[in-house]
Amino acid sequence: MNPENNRLYDGRPRAQGSPDDGQLQIHVMAVSDIPGVQVIERHSFPTPWSMRAFVSEITENDCAHYLVMRKGQLVVGYVGMWLILDEGHITNIAVHPAWRRQGVGTRLLKAIAAHAYRLGARKMTLEVRRSNYQAQALYHKLGYSTIGVRPGYYLDNGEDALIMWKELNRDDYQAVFDIRDRDEL
Ligand SMILES: CC(C)(COP(=O)(O)OP(=O)(O)OC[C@H]1O[C@@H](n2cnc3c(N)ncnc32)[C@H](O)[C@@H]1OP(=O)(O)O)[C@@H](O)C(=O)NCCC(=O)NCCS
Repeated sequence: MNPENNRLYDGRPRAQGSPDDGQLQIHVMAVSDIPGVQVIERHSFPTPWSMRAFVSEITENDCAHYLVMRKGQLVVGYVGMWLILDEGHITNIAVHPAWRRQGVGTRLLKAIAAHAYRLGARKMTLEVRRSNYQAQALYHKLGYSTIGVRPGYYLDNGEDALIMWKELNRDDYQAVFDIRDRDEL
């Protein structure tokens, strides 16, 4: 098993070997998380990714990085990114409807930005549907700006994508990982 699968990504210290006590915690996505991820995916997107797509991303794609937030064994949200040179491209983020508006998306987005920064990224980018005001509000709140449009980007309905962008700096890293945790990463 990849030891990263037990690594915490929300900056909260956890004693080695302590049981998962049902607190919300961020981990690297494991294959065993994918059924829970797919439930959220189906609640969240008109054309959900398949099981195979997620398995391929986390087992075969070297530039892909996926995190999940779990409460105990329950997956409540996830986020994915491709790291290409010094740019992190958000591929996917979703939170279970029952867990929305409780800061989960914010924590996941901060965690993936910190993870990206640690791996050398200095910019983050993403595409979002023009009509997806909720997600745009989340991204704006975390410092992303709209820098362009991809007309007709979404094949299911021909909707435009807004391209959003954010420069990363050390604060994005330190906001999530304190000094003590940094030594463990
Ligand atoms: C977008 C999404 C990931 C946000 O997750 P979340 O856990 O609810 O987000 P948070 O609780 O961290 O919200 C952070 C901020 O985002 C904005 N926001 C989130 N949901 C919102 C909503 N329904 N209406 C307006 N603003 C919203 C607010 O500014 C919010 O801050 P506030 O609660 O202090 O006002 C979630 O709504 C989701 O899974 N949507 C479906 C999938 C999706 O659209 N993914 C994005 C693809 S680009």
